Amino acid sequence: MTGPVLSLRGVSKSFSQGGLLDRLRRRDNRLVALHDVSLDVMRGDVVGIVGESGSGKSTLAGLAVGLAQPTSGEVLLDGQSITELMRDHAGPWRRRVQMVFQDSSSALNPRKSVARCLGETLALRGVPKPQRESEIVDLLTLVGLGREIGPRLPHELSGGQRQRIGLARALAMKPEVLIADEPVSALDVSLQAQVINLLSRLTRELGLTLLFISHDLALVRTLCSRIVVMRKGAIVEQGPCLDVLDRPQHPYTQALIAAVPKGLAGRRTPLPVRADVATPKTREDIHGAA
Ligand SMILES: Nc1ncnc2c1ncn2[C@@H]1O[C@H](COP(=O)(O)OP(=O)(O)OP(=O)(O)O)[C@@H](O)[C@H]1O
Ligand SMILES: [Mg+2]
Repeated sequence: MTGPVLSLRGVSKSFSQGGLLDRLRRRDNRLVALHDVSLDVMRGDVVGIVGESGSGKSTLAGLAVGLAQPTSGEVLLDGQSITELMRDHAGPWRRRVQMVFQDSSSALNPRKSVARCLGETLALRGVPKPQRESEIVDLLTLVGLGREIGPRLPHELSGGQRQRIGLARALAMKPEVLIADEPVSALDVSLQAQVINLLSRLTRELGLTLLFISHDLALVRTLCSRIVVMRKGAIVEQGPCLDVLDRPQHPYTQALIAAVPKGLAGRRTPLPVRADVATPKTREDIHGAA
């Protein structure tokens, strides 16, 4: 039996608040963003992370991707402590967990063409120069874009195209775990559908493990096999996505679902899509028969 690919064990994270004066006066101004969070993510899981604003979702993502260190507890990748992996040699580990951000326009360098941006990422992975051009075309194809996009600068792309480039750049590293922090909330509904369908296809085809942070329960229902509900820095409920959304046990989850306009959280039909993007049809389509 194989263990979880990503684990959080009793992870807490606090931030100091207030100015220097407060700290000099030794006022306890620490804000606990995560409190004793434990979570196991199995290989191939597609985990939706939901919860109100400020509940600690992005903080959790930042710890999992190594942008920050936990105040206490451990983050493990394949059973190995991330802190230790980072200490030994950050490079290989950094490749294994990749992140896609909400607003790819700020995540992409405005002065670098798509091809250059992807080429530099491939170089980081150690892909020899002669192979990079064909890998760039492969990556663009993977995210449903043509090679003509290569010479373009980020501002010459649509929002949906930019988000796909953000995704292509993350995939260029051949990550085992992809963390997408509200990757579609800056997009309109039809572009959202494109990116969600793409993520759905990639998780199936590449066997990618995905942590999908979103406020949209309908998207989580469409895409995810598991769901984690967060509130005030803690996990209040987790389990198979449909079980939790259809039979929420915790009052907070019940309230979260009740807050969605009627019908939307239960949306099972495919989202509107453009003809060039494959549509996930059923749950089995997305996750394979159980
Ligand atoms: N670098 C930081 N310094 C100080 N406080 C922070 C920092 N990052 C996050 N926080 C605080 O930690 C708490 C959790 O923030 P986090 O960004 O993880 O929430 P979130 O669930 O991602 O919210 P949203 O849905 O609005 O993106 C918030 O109260 C936030 O203000
Ligand atoms: Mg956030």
